[in-house]
Amino acid sequence: MAFRWKNDLTERDVTDEVAYLNRRQLIAGVAAGVGLAGAGGRAQAAELEPTDWEDITSYNNYYEFGTGKDDPVKYAHMLTTSPWTVKIDGLVDRPGEYAFEDIMKQMTIEERIYRFRCVEAWSMVVPWNGFELSDLLDLAGVQSGAKYVAFETALRPDEMPGVRFPVLDWPYVEGLRLDEAVHPLTIMATGIYGKDIPNQNGAPLRLVVPWKYGFKSIKSIVRITLTDKEPPTSWNKANAREYGFYSNVNPEVDHPRWSQASERVIGTGLFAKRQDTLMFNGYADEVASLYTGMDLAKFY
Ligand code: MTE
Repeated sequence: MAFRWKNDLTERDVTDEVAYLNRRQLIAGVAAGVGLAGAGGRAQAAELEPTDWEDITSYNNYYEFGTGKDDPVKYAHMLTTSPWTVKIDGLVDRPGEYAFEDIMKQMTIEERIYRFRCVEAWSMVVPWNGFELSDLLDLAGVQSGAKYVAFETALRPDEMPGVRFPVLDWPYVEGLRLDEAVHPLTIMATGIYGKDIPNQNGAPLRLVVPWKYGFKSIKSIVRITLTDKEPPTSWNKANAREYGFYSNVNPEVDHPRWSQASERVIGTGLFAKRQDTLMFNGYADEVASLYTGMDLAKFY
């Protein structure tokens, strides 16, 4: 990898960085509204204004709680998120059940302000807190034969009213190629705006891969499996023609039923603002090299 985001910042650094940025903005007379920290956040602080907490936490997709945008905020409180364990297995040196608190003790939490683009053509900017997925995989020790990472969401019929309906083949599953999974932009989010991540957004930990459509960002993860085969993914199983394994944000490759050239910006009112969608959701400089030589219309 040509670069690595600095991941040695602590909560104290976050506060200091915000104060520093605000001071600079005041001096420069620039409108405030961006805060931020973590190397990723700092690089983008000048151009990204986070979506309001209310919008991020009340307009959700989490089909285990229903298919309406406001079903997750209504029902996700039913999910028990503590205690929580993540099983890490497959091609790893140290397979096992990893307790969420033990993971957290060993990870460095950073803030990352990322664009978030749903395949349904809406977008937000989310100030996540979390750690790099590669650091978690290091805990388990990835073996040389591993090529892919498979993820699985909790399946709890008693706590998830939506799983009574066969909208998807439960549990929700997702996957990444190993080089995508260990890319420094790929994080496991455990918070938003410095608070614990709300259940409707995927507590206690969910994947965030900012250059891919939102459905790759699987929520409330209970299992991570290192494998040598491309793992099945929920939306691809539901409709392979419409949802591929890669699902990189690409304004030039339309969804069979709608254009992906632009997106509706959540939080901009009834007549929502539309903006052009960026290649790899604006992260082309960092990730385009992962796909050199691949036909992006074929591997969509
Ligand atoms: N993960 C699970 N387990 N179930 C889901 O229904 N929806 C996906 C993704 N992760 C989903 C999921 C989709 S389509 C999107 S756009 C994002 O979560 C939405 O994340 P948000 O609600 O935090 O904005």
